[in-house]
Amino acid sequence: MELKKNVEAALNRQITHELEAWHVYLSISAYFETQSLLGMAKWMRKQADEEMKHAMKIFGYINERGGAVRLEALPAPPSSFSSPLSAFEAALAHEQKNTENIEKLADLAEAEGDKATVSFLKWFIDEQVEEEDSARRNVDLAKMCEGSKAALMQLDYMMGKRESSD
Ligand code: FEO
Repeated sequence: MELKKNVEAALNRQITHELEAWHVYLSISAYFETQSLLGMAKWMRKQADEEMKHAMKIFGYINERGGAVRLEALPAPPSSFSSPLSAFEAALAHEQKNTENIEKLADLAEAEGDKATVSFLKWFIDEQVEEEDSARRNVDLAKMCEGSKAALMQLDYMMGKRESSD
């Protein structure tokens, strides 16, 4: 089944959303660097790497279906945050928005009878559960650290232990 133009356009839009997430997380990582929270900076860099992989997964899929990848301009990400907690809240809000975007895309594929795209997107739907969970956990942990620099340093150390970007 040929990739319909509207599904192709929506997949391309989702590449943009994933690259926006990449951009936002890089910006949050840069903010943590300015605060000397290097463990959190590392964690966010890995999260950014993950978003790039998501974008490239869709990039590959569009090509595999004989469609055309069209990259779009990215908006400037937020670059300053009032606290580590607000940076983690921004990341969570971004993940929640991305879940909505993916679900809308899956609804469109379903409505167009594009079973291959529905199947392809299942991985992303499952991934969003994990992504929202870790983003929410970061917010919870940052809330626990409020008012305690020692706790914040401990969290920073713990986040610096993240090994992979999967
Ligand atoms: Fe690729 Fe965090 O959504």
